Amino acid sequence: MKSPQDWPEPIVRVQSLSDSGISTIPNKYVKPPIERPSLSNSFNNDINIPTIDFLGLFTSDGNNYANKSIIYEQISEACRNWGFFQVVNHGVPPELMDEAREVWREFFHHPMDVKQTYANTPKTYEGYGSRLGVEKGAILDWSDYYFLHYLPCSLKVHNKWPAFPLSLRKVIEEYSKQVVKFCGRLMKILSSNLGLKEDVLQNAFGGDRDIGACLRVNFYPKCPQPDLTLGLSPHSDPGGMTILLPDQHVAGLQVRRDGHWITVKPASHAFIVNIGDQIQVLSNAIYKSVEHRVIVNSAEERVSLAFFYNPKSDLLIEPVKELVTKQNPPLYPPRTFDEYRLYMRTKGPQGKSQLGESDKSQDEK
Ligand code: OGA
Ligand code: NI
Repeated sequence: MKSPQDWPEPIVRVQSLSDSGISTIPNKYVKPPIERPSLSNSFNNDINIPTIDFLGLFTSDGNNYANKSIIYEQISEACRNWGFFQVVNHGVPPELMDEAREVWREFFHHPMDVKQTYANTPKTYEGYGSRLGVEKGAILDWSDYYFLHYLPCSLKVHNKWPAFPLSLRKVIEEYSKQVVKFCGRLMKILSSNLGLKEDVLQNAFGGDRDIGACLRVNFYPKCPQPDLTLGLSPHSDPGGMTILLPDQHVAGLQVRRDGHWITVKPASHAFIVNIGDQIQVLSNAIYKSVEHRVIVNSAEERVSLAFFYNPKSDLLIEPVKELVTKQNPPLYPPRTFDEYRLYMRTKGPQGKSQLGESDKSQDEK
């Protein structure tokens, strides 16, 4: 597999379709009945992913050992049983989170011709995009996005970040710096929760100097027929771990659990953390990357920032030696993150098939 140079069909911006005032969506966005939101087992109840309060965790004063071990245990439990949790009091200033989301909202509200100057291609995916995957005739998702690199520094090219609104680059620099710091702290916690030295996971990712980080800003325009389509099809994130800043007012993210879809109800200024495929592999499936998807609605647009914290892209990733025993043989062959990423970039979101897990095996749990 090689990355193609261009899209198989002319790109249509979902935002333009939405703004045109159509009352029925083009067939290209209509999902087969079994995949539609209403028919695929949405759970209409109060279940939510776990919420964990990190208050005091990163400050030495006033934080006693008991508190720390309680929080570590909550994280451990969430990683093992959910693959998803939300964090409040994570240390990133709430004003910065709001600012980051709102500069991007502003970007998406700029005229189309200026946004088009950032149009992306499947070669690197950097820039303004409207599809994931390059298969001709594929059914598409109801969203546009912007994708950019933050780490390694060699891939961070500010020219590929929008020049407007004027504050965007500065705000996104600061936001990314803070989120990377948070990720580094989480990696230590996950490592020690797995019974490993706290720098094992980070080193497996290539260490502080070589880790990768990128941002995908999702824009989900209003949709006149939200029951027929999805904002983002079911997938697990191919990277290490994801820190999602959801829209503060509009729900949409759903997490798959026992064959049902649970709608995430974000707490105020929470980050939603999820395990990606690379941590599933390194942990030899003690932690799992969990499938998720996004539903859309006819009343409101939705903006989310998915920050992906990834291994150096050409390093071989395989189950950590200390976690492999006779009883727990390695479940995955060594592969690079590039290989996982290329799978998704070619085929689009396809559940967890890149890890060799079929849709069916998830349903039968
Ligand atoms: C993603 C993702 C969820 C959301 O970008 O990988 O899962 O709520 N986004 O937008
Ligand atoms: Ni995702």
